[in-house]
Amino acid sequence: MPSEKFKLAVLVSGRGSNLQAIIDSIEKNNLAAEISLILSNVPDAYALERGKKHGIESVFLDPKSFSNRDDYEKQMIELLRSIDLVCLAGFMRILGKKFIEAFSGKIINIHPSLLPAFPGLNVQEKALEHGVKFSGCTVHFVNEEVDGGAIILQAAVPILDEDDAQSLSRRILEQEHIIYPEAIRLIIEDNLEFSGRRVTRKTRGN
Ligand code: GRF
Repeated sequence: MPSEKFKLAVLVSGRGSNLQAIIDSIEKNNLAAEISLILSNVPDAYALERGKKHGIESVFLDPKSFSNRDDYEKQMIELLRSIDLVCLAGFMRILGKKFIEAFSGKIINIHPSLLPAFPGLNVQEKALEHGVKFSGCTVHFVNEEVDGGAIILQAAVPILDEDDAQSLSRRILEQEHIIYPEAIRLIIEDNLEFSGRRVTRKTRGN
């Protein structure tokens, strides 16, 4: 009998470079998983093209064809019912309580700042405006607070005097593409332990 692969769903709204990093990790055999579904709330998200190129089921679920958020998310839950881990990768919709409860502890997100600094949108601009000397990215579990769940991994990126939002975003994105697949790997390998908000590796020293 073929062994069951760990099933990922990736939720997207745009460019999909983090999706691509996950696809590449799987194809290089660095992640023992398969992407069962890519779901976008935006019709022309380039991420959908990326998925199709790799033969992955890639669907646009139109929020406008549902009368409210609950119904939209009910349909999402239905589509994702056999999924082991839901990865948000630039998914530009806030998820409701019912959806989060349906996948309790099984939704993660990548955010382009060192949380809890600068949650929300336009965070590279906010980091520059604030004058911090380091920013970076965070992979975290998703709870009802926007960008507020327990932190799995972070990578710090120094802010250079000559940086603008674009150059900073570019350097942060390079780190995102490293830590997102790595965080997924830690989950697949059941290598995380939890103490309150603190998430650590079971296997220490790496
Ligand atoms: C990334 O910066 C990610 O941190 C944020 O949205 C952006 C998505 O980029 N949540 P991409 O679509 O993965 O290229």
